[in-house]
Amino acid sequence: MTAPSTAHDLFADVPRKPGAPKRDPILVADNVVRRFGGLTAVDVEHVEIQRGAITALIGPNGAGKTTFFNLLTGFDRAQTGKWAFESHQLAGQPPYRIARAGLVRTFQLTKALTRLSVMENMRLGATDQLGERAWRALLPWLWNKQEKTVTERAEQLLTRFKLDHMRGEYAGELSGGQRKLLEMARALMAEPTLVMLDEPMAGVNPALTQSLLGHVKDLRDMGMTVLFVEHDMDMVCDISDWVIVMAQGRVVSEGPPDAVMADPVVIDAYLGSHHDAPLTEAEEERQLAEIEADLIDDDVSAATVNGDDSPPSSSDTPPPSGRASSSGAESSSSADATETPAGKETR
Ligand SMILES: Nc1ncnc2c1ncn2[C@@H]1O[C@H](COP(=O)(O)OP(=O)(O)OP(=O)(O)O)[C@@H](O)[C@H]1O
Ligand SMILES: [Mg+2]
Repeated sequence: MTAPSTAHDLFADVPRKPGAPKRDPILVADNVVRRFGGLTAVDVEHVEIQRGAITALIGPNGAGKTTFFNLLTGFDRAQTGKWAFESHQLAGQPPYRIARAGLVRTFQLTKALTRLSVMENMRLGATDQLGERAWRALLPWLWNKQEKTVTERAEQLLTRFKLDHMRGEYAGELSGGQRKLLEMARALMAEPTLVMLDEPMAGVNPALTQSLLGHVKDLRDMGMTVLFVEHDMDMVCDISDWVIVMAQGRVVSEGPPDAVMADPVVIDAYLGSHHDAPLTEAEEERQLAEIEADLIDDDVSAATVNGDDSPPSSSDTPPPSGRASSSGAESSSSADATETPAGKETR
């Protein structure tokens, strides 16, 4: 086997199927299950994340992506399962230990501490701060040295993310997009090897989106592995080397972006998700046309059976077919977004 020259080549001989083994996985998860009452939010039999690549984790609303992130990073507890990151078994470990091992994540809803300054937020991202440990606080020269290193690293990252001019501002003063940048910069304070980003582009204006995309690519170019959740399929196709699709807690498809977008299983997963999501106008029109066509078909066959060609009375009208009603004609008023695998979400 020859050494791959780009991240894309890392996947050249990887089978396009759920749970596909990778050439050099940084993270391997097995039988990870999380239930909330009667709902199985996550039920991942096996998944591997390739080192040094950008992998997108996609799936309709409620597929279990955030819950899976929470489990892997110690912010929630799985009922069963284990996962190995590098040589560490992480199941049951608290988030700070997992971050120290080199796995950090950002949150779908940004968690910048709004009443702390940008710089203070950055410093909190540094793991293993000597000053946090009581006995080490008795050795101020050690503490001061580390303090300086942390500040220098924070300055470098703030400059890279173009937030250095905001270092003294409260994080609460930043725009939504700047907070996303701060969260990413803060995650890098831990000097991670695997960065997990939960919807890093959500709520970010188009001007900052390109810059965020650039930063995500930079992480890979600097040797980090990235696993990110995103609904915008243009962005997924733009930056991912590999895509993993979840639906109803399970991994249902894996492959390069174009192959996954064309996978009928993926299309079904997204269309199925319309049970609980408001319809787009186009989708509603399509479904109404389908119902209408079904009714006409039924009328024609009823007329044929009855041997007459007059239109049936309204009391003869059959109910809409199960296909039409189950595909969303009785859609609830859920506020969730409607998405399709082939296009941007429509919130
Ligand atoms: N703390 C909780 N208690 C009960 N149910 C939960 C909890 N957290 C998540 N769920 C449920 O688990 C399922 C998976 O949710 P999750 O947030 O992981 O989905 P997601 O794929 O991240 O969706 P989205 O794309 O909308 O962010 C959903 O049905 C959700 O309602
Ligand atoms: Mg989520």
